[in-house]
This record gives sequence, C-alpha cells and structure tokens, in this order.
Amino acid sequence: MRYGYFDDERREYVITTPETPYPWINYLGTEDFFSLISHRAGGYCFYRDARLRRLLRYRYNNVPTDVGGRYFYIHDAGDVWSPSHAPVGAPLDVYECRHGLGYTRIAGERRGVRADLLFFVPPGHTAEVHELRLRNTDSWPRTIKVFSFVEWCLWNAHDDMTNYQRNFSTGEVEVDQGGSTLYHKTEYRERRDHFAFYHVNAPVKGFDTDRESFMGPWGDFARPRAVVEGASRNSVASGWAPVASHGLEVSLAPGEEKVFVFTLGYVENPRDAKWEGDKTGVMNKTRARALIESFSRPEQVEAAMQKLSAKWTNMLAQYTVTSPDERLNRMVNVWNPYQCMVTFNMSRSASYFETGIGRGMGFRDSNQDLLGFVHLVPERARERILDIAATQKADGSAYHQYQPLTKRGNNDIGSGFNDDPLWLVSGVSAYVRETGDWSILGESVPFDNDPDSAAPLFEHLRRAFGHVLGNLGPHGLPLIGRADWNDCLNLNCFSETPDESFQTTGNRQGRTAESVFIAGMLVAVAPDYARLAEHVGQGAEARRARAAGKRMAEVILEHGWDGDWFLRAYDFFGNKVGSKENDEAQIFIEPQGFCVMAGVGVAGGQAKKALDAVKERLDTRYGIVLNSPAYTRYHVELGEISSYPPGYKENGGIFCHNNPWIMIAETVLGRGDRAFEYWKKIAPAYLEDESEVHRLEPYVYAQMIAGKEAARHGEAKNSWLTGTAAWNFVAISQHLLGVRPDWDGLRVRPCIGAEIGRYTVTRRCRGAEYRIHVKNGGGGRPPRLTVDGKPLDGDLVPYAPAGTTVVVTCEA
Ligand code: BGC
Ligand code: NOJ
Repeated sequence: MRYGYFDDERREYVITTPETPYPWINYLGTEDFFSLISHRAGGYCFYRDARLRRLLRYRYNNVPTDVGGRYFYIHDAGDVWSPSHAPVGAPLDVYECRHGLGYTRIAGERRGVRADLLFFVPPGHTAEVHELRLRNTDSWPRTIKVFSFVEWCLWNAHDDMTNYQRNFSTGEVEVDQGGSTLYHKTEYRERRDHFAFYHVNAPVKGFDTDRESFMGPWGDFARPRAVVEGASRNSVASGWAPVASHGLEVSLAPGEEKVFVFTLGYVENPRDAKWEGDKTGVMNKTRARALIESFSRPEQVEAAMQKLSAKWTNMLAQYTVTSPDERLNRMVNVWNPYQCMVTFNMSRSASYFETGIGRGMGFRDSNQDLLGFVHLVPERARERILDIAATQKADGSAYHQYQPLTKRGNNDIGSGFNDDPLWLVSGVSAYVRETGDWSILGESVPFDNDPDSAAPLFEHLRRAFGHVLGNLGPHGLPLIGRADWNDCLNLNCFSETPDESFQTTGNRQGRTAESVFIAGMLVAVAPDYARLAEHVGQGAEARRARAAGKRMAEVILEHGWDGDWFLRAYDFFGNKVGSKENDEAQIFIEPQGFCVMAGVGVAGGQAKKALDAVKERLDTRYGIVLNSPAYTRYHVELGEISSYPPGYKENGGIFCHNNPWIMIAETVLGRGDRAFEYWKKIAPAYLEDESEVHRLEPYVYAQMIAGKEAARHGEAKNSWLTGTAAWNFVAISQHLLGVRPDWDGLRVRPCIGAEIGRYTVTRRCRGAEYRIHVKNGGGGRPPRLTVDGKPLDGDLVPYAPAGTTVVVTCEA
C-alpha cells in the first residue's frame, strides 16, 4: 500500500494522506541552522547543536505521536482546523505534503478555505521561513481567524525536559511591533548572547507568549482556548512555558488569495552590544530586524527558494543516471545523495529516532558518511577529515566519538573500537581519489587536539594502520577491542549488571578476542594506504603495507575460514564466533562482505562459497540479515548483540548498512544480477508499495529492517541517520552502475545484471564532465570502452582537464 508518490520532475515525495504509518519527515537547512519537519508540520529546529541550541520544544515518544511543531490553526465561524491536519485533526477536504530538497510544502483545504504552507531555511540565514497562502475557494466572502503557534525550548534540550524546578521560573519574552514580533529571551539576561523570535509580516489582532494563557487551563494542542474562542489573550510570559502565537484576522473575497510570511529566527549579539542603548533589559534587536527585513515580502521568499533549488541542482549534478528504471534513477539522482547530505549535516544527532541530546559525531560513522558526500561537497569533506583526524590519539587509536561544538574526543566512551583507525584511511583515500588533492596528506593536524603533537595527516594514517597491525591476537588476526563495526559484539566486556554500558564497562583486558571483519578491512585498505605512502615518498612503508595486506589475506584463509564461509571472530576464550560449530549465529554478514570486497578467497573459490552461503542462509524477502540463526538467549561473553530479541537490530536484523558490502562483493565475482536483486530489496523507492509493512519513509533508507525471526519481519526502524546512505550510494553508483573515481582516472566497470540494458551516467569529477553511455549485457566480462570515439585499453578513463566534456561509450 502507498501513502503518496514520487514527483520526479520536482524532486519531491508527495504524501497524500496525513495518516502515514509513522511521521514521515524531511530536513531543512544546509549550513548552521537546521530543522526536522514531519508531514504534519511536527518537529523542531536548532542552531548548530541539536542539544545545546534548540529553538523549539518537541516531545519524543509521546501520545499522540509527533507532538510539537510549527502549528497553524484556522477558526472559521466556529469551525477549527489545521492545514497540516495536526494538531487539531479535523478532517480535510484536501491534504497534501510535498517533501522536497530542503523544503516542505503542506496544503490543507476545508470548507472552501485553502491554506498552502511552505517551510524552508533560506541559505545564508539562521531562520525557518513559513509562508502561508490562504485562498477562498468558495463563492462568498468570508473572514477567518488564523493563529500561528510555536513553543520555545529553553535552549538546552536535555535540561529542558528534566530540570523543571529551575525552568518554570526562567522563561522570558519581549513583545514588539504590537505583537507581530515575539521574542524568546530566556537566560539572555545572564550568560546567553542569543535569542529567538517569531515574526509575521502583518499587523496582528492579538498575540500570546504564555502557553497556559493560550491553551487555557487543562487545554491541549488540539483545542487551545484562544483558538476555540477566536481571541488571543495578549499574554506576556513570565516563567512557565513561553510560546509564540500570532492572532490574525483575514478577510477573503471569493477566489481571493492572501500571503503571509512568518520568520522563525535565531540571532546572536556581540556581548558588548546585547542591550538596546543603555536600556538594560531590552534586547538589541538590530540583527533580528535585518533578518526580518530579508523576508518581509513573498518575492524575497521566492528568490531564496530559487537559490536553494539552484544549490541542490548544482550539487546533485555531480552524478546522475538516466536509465529505463525510474526507481533506480530517483534513488541515485535525488534521494540517496540527499540522505547522504543529511548525514553530513546531522551525523547521528537529530532524527525521529535520535533525540539530538545523545550521541556526538562517531569516528567511524563520520568517515563512512564521507564516502557518500565527498563528491557533493569536497571542500567540506576536507575540513571534516581534518576535524576527525585531530581527535585521533597519538598511538594511532581513535576516540570513538567527538563533540561537534568542541571537536574534542569524548572521554566517556574513549577508544578501543579497533576498526576505527582504518576508517580514516578509507575516508582519506576516497577524498584524494575524488579530488586529486594530495596536499591534504601534508596538512598539519594535531593528535588528541594537542597542538604540540601536530604532524602531517599522512603520519596519522601511518599510525592508524600501524595500530591495527601492532595489535594482533593469537592467530595473527586483529584484536577486536571493545567492538569493531558491530558495536554490539562486545567480546571483552562481560556485562551482568543492568544500567552499565555493554561497550565501555571494561572488565576484561583481553588480548585474545580477534575480528575477521577488521582483518578483511585491513586487506581492503592496505593497497590504498600503500598508494598514499608512495605518494609521500615512503616507498618502504608502502611495501610493508602491501606485504602486510597479503599476509593478512593468508591468515584469514588459514584461521578465518570456516569451511563454507568466513568466521566472524574468536572470543575472549579463543572460541569461534560465527562458525558451524556454534549452535546459534553460525554465520555473520560482515566478514563475507568485507573479505570478498578485499579480494580474499576469490582465486581459491572461498569467496564464491561464502557469498552462496549468504544467499542460502542470510537472504530474505526484505534483505540480508546480519547473522543466522539469531541468538535466542543472552551470551555474556558476546555482549549486546545477544541482548536483542531475535530478528532485531544487530541480532538477526536486516542491517541496511552492510547489505551493500555483499552487493559490492557480488560485483567482485561479476554477479551483477544478484547484486542488483539485493540492492532493490532494500532501496526504499522499491518498497513504496509495501509501505504498510515497511512503515518508514519510502524515500530514505532506515538503519534496520526487522529480520526473519522477528514478529514484524519487514518493518523498518531508524530512518535517515545511518551509514546505510553512504554505503548504498557507493554500491549502486560505483560498483553496479560502475563509475568510480580512482587515483588516475574514472574507473568504468558496470556490473548490474542484464535487467538494465542501456543507461547513461553523467559524472562531474575534478572539474570535467564525463558522459558515459553504457550498453549493458549483464556484466561479468571486461567492458569495452571508447573515449571521445577512440578505443581505450582497459577500463580506466584518464582524468581530463577541468572545463572539458568527455564522451565515453561502454559495452559491458
Ligand atoms: C545499537 C547500535 C549502536 C550502539 C551505539 C546500540 O544499542 O544497537 O546500533 O551503534 O548502540 O552506542
Ligand atoms: C550504529 C553505529 O552508528 C555504527 O557505527 C555501527 O557500525 C552500527 N551501529 C552497527 O553496530
């Protein structure tokens, strides 16, 4: 069942009913000011940090679901409704939500009044703009009352939901321009130099800034007293819960349309210019007024929307495909890269599954996200790499997380996730391949943010690679530490006490537990690392690295091979994990994917066996599960993985993040048909018809889909902020459609199966544009290429000078 459709022309997903299975959201903002907005206008916004600078209050996990947002109420001769359906819930004659690139439009119509809402964050500004277009679709004149409503969060989102003994006394506001501008200035009198405001570009009938006055005693979002009675209270909040609501009266002749622009802004003042002249207590509003001025007319809104649209058009032009499969096109051209950019902006902080108050930036997460956005924003990827590297420890290990505002490693979690260092090598390799900017290797970067320790970035990579090689276990495989990619495989933490962390409660100092996944990863990155080493003149180091990669591949085949597939690990006691000897979880997805991607066992036939075992034991109708059979009881020596009921999360869930490793591995064996089958199983656009099962947005990936042992097989959770976005983009764009930036040219090697016969990829890279016309016979054999009409030896199209266009044909 569907709840909407893709409008490819406008790059929008159109939701046609407010009753989707779950809030289906979008993100606004591309720079410093960001918003989450659901199809019912729920959500919140923040300036840079979702925890510390949150503007709007949002109630996670509430009943009804999705409470808090930018709400509009219409009072039409006693009839009260909301164009976004929420919060009033009155039935609408017309409802439509269009989530687009950085904007959301919601239209609602009832009894002859149509309201079109547009929400977006204009580039270059720290504000959400809400444009409200009201039209009388009837044949008689009418006068309606319109109320806007937002509820302020008292900045620190965690404090805001816990510290009521203080918070109920701190709230402060200012009312300006007769109520057209409502300011929120809680804590401005003391250490904050920032404030927020909600403005409408019209005179108001009344306003409210105190929640209870607006709601009435025991009132609620659906039926606030001011709205029901049709009269604002002109309340001025003092403590309790400050809100901002404008009360407007609008007369509309038959067919007439009126447009209002609301600006929800964030402003910072210099500390010595906080107040208006010497009037202590009255905020200096100069900057707010300038921001208000920028969006006081609909033409300005239109111009800002065009700017936003152009920004996305330009970004997305880096990689586009035209194929006969419209679902493939829309995933590759619009929605997958869009989600990659959202992971760039948010990391794992704020979604409808992450509250914005918990996790910082992940070391491995950020490096993987980079694989998906490096071609969209290369300069910002460079900055991101340098930030990440600056949190690396001097011994080459890495803090698992860092805080976005301070950019410092997070001590609570610390280090010891032994795959982390290698992801930095992957991130840097991807960046250099994309840009050709080798200079980044010489960039001076501190360790652990200590300026005295600064060294060239390459030295960070050397220590990263060295750290993994320097920490091998009894079989010569890398030690796992607290966990590897699978955060829940905690082989050195025997947790028996509730409320302690599975990852960080270090009660064993093991030097036994080893990871075949990290081993595969080391083999995969060794040639890249060697290539980087050669570039900086460290030939001996490059040779050592290549040799180490080769040796590790042999160790994997000797100690990491279980007969029909790759083992997952050795535990604290040296017992096998992910082996046919185990009674539960005999096979795991991660090593099958990464070892084959690295080329291990391709020549000897093990790779094929491993992938066939994946097909046989892990594949389901909705994707490939992480392990099988799922653990049914808690294994203290394995950790969090066995804490999940079978079929969920890392215990037998379909992790959409590592399904693409298997897709890529299949392309290594030339099995494009199978790779494409796997891709389509989890690509959200292909799940649209089953939205009642999948339940989450059909335009973005979720981290997890419930596996075969789960009661709700096929149901997705945790959409948007997941490494799934980056890896699926890498798989489909670089390995299946087969256009991949390499060190010296674009590698063109399609492997997508016979289903997609002909397609064209347009790729911009290093300033040149490549139009690659593929005639695809199914893959698996070496492609035959021409470049500007001339036959090419091999599959590497040399990079062309910036500004040129190259025409490539490819028969595969
Ligand atoms: C989740 C993992 C996540 C980890 C982060 C676990 O509960 O299952 O997916 O990476 O928490 O701390
Ligand atoms: C989510 C984490 O953010 C990611 O780093 C990890 O690899 C997966 N969970 C799997 O545990």
